[in-house]
Amino acid sequence: MTGKESMKFLIINGPNLNLLGIREPNVYGRKTFADLEEYIRKSCIENEIEGTLFQSNHEGDLVDAIQAAYGEYDGIIINPAAYTHTSIAILDALKAVNIPAVEVHLSNIREREAFRQISYPGMACMKTYVGLGFEGYRKAVEYLKEYLSTEKKEPT
Ligand code: DQA
Repeated sequence: MTGKESMKFLIINGPNLNLLGIREPNVYGRKTFADLEEYIRKSCIENEIEGTLFQSNHEGDLVDAIQAAYGEYDGIIINPAAYTHTSIAILDALKAVNIPAVEVHLSNIREREAFRQISYPGMACMKTYVGLGFEGYRKAVEYLKEYLSTEKKEPT
């Protein structure tokens, strides 16, 4: 990345998040996935970040997207959804590309069922935002931007 280019973030959303607004509104709210995508795009624009959004219901597609990010993106923001609690493949992909990553969950997984208490991809993430709804994505954009700006200034 040169000084002139804006930072590039890949924002990944996992399975069933495409059904936001329909799925369990008592947990995830009534706003739709299109609303979330608009919110994330706006957060990127406000922070002068070039954001690319990707959603898939398929674990391998999420792994492929992370692999393809190598050398292309400065940061990854990921809500792996249910794969959070099962996917060593996504954890390994994040570790493999070694791109600074931040994990986001709309709900507060820490106060939900026992099976949601472990996050495998989270083990490769610098930070995790839970229970803040859409705002977690904006905070993730701001955190990554700040982290990468500071990192750039450090002597090598
Ligand atoms: C989620 C939490 C996960 O436990 C769940 O499987 C999801 C959404 C969240 O954003 O709160 O699909 O990642």
